[in-house]
Amino acid sequence: MNISNIPVIAIDGPSASGKGTVAQLVSENLGFQYLDSGSLYRLVALKAIRIGADLNDEKALENIAQILDVTFTGRKIQLGGEEVADLIRQEVYGNGASKVAAHPGLREALLDRQRAFRKDPGLVADGRDMCSVVFPDATLKIFLTATPEVRAERRYKQLMEKGEGVNINKILKDIEARDKRDSIRIVAPLKQSKDSNLVDTTLLNVTEVVNKILKQYSEISIKSI
Ligand code: CDP
Repeated sequence: MNISNIPVIAIDGPSASGKGTVAQLVSENLGFQYLDSGSLYRLVALKAIRIGADLNDEKALENIAQILDVTFTGRKIQLGGEEVADLIRQEVYGNGASKVAAHPGLREALLDRQRAFRKDPGLVADGRDMCSVVFPDATLKIFLTATPEVRAERRYKQLMEKGEGVNINKILKDIEARDKRDSIRIVAPLKQSKDSNLVDTTLLNVTEVVNKILKQYSEISIKSI
């Protein structure tokens, strides 16, 4: 089968917009593969911090990406045999990810790994540049957003549930700083691509967002039959 015939739902959006939760549920509903592209940037940040590499050393980051020994199995992520799915959700690796992600060489080094997730019967991929760079030919493109305050609240709840002691004002500041860093970078900046559908989740719950995306996808699928 020609790889370009395998459907992709690409979901981009800012930090804590709910992309991960929504993308995972959409993929489960359709029986599709799921790519959480942010986890790759988080894994590179984790590895770099562990070996004491400078997060501004592009060559060192590229090397880390090339030899990254990672296996994704369902919700599990193994780095060199160690289970790290929960660990990489910590804010320190989210902020580290945002720093390493600004390097074009690192982004290039991660491209093939991301495209390799496009397998039968289809893929749901979330990140910042799924619509623009990684899967420009995606079947459905979504830009998921919400106000910074609502996103801070969601991230706060998520971290509290994980037992991380956090301050909501600090989270809001971090989200605004991350939005800024992700939006002004030269390569693959965070912005809505022209051909994507805007979904503002400020007043919607997870089920409503998932259903909205599934409806849009089924309308496209019906049209293409
Ligand atoms: O949802 P949240 O932003 O907290 O985390 P994430 O999606 O795991 O992404 C972490 C960081 O990785 C983001 O702040 C982006 O800077 C970067 N990233 C990126 O540049 N490109 C992607 N496709 C995914 C994430």
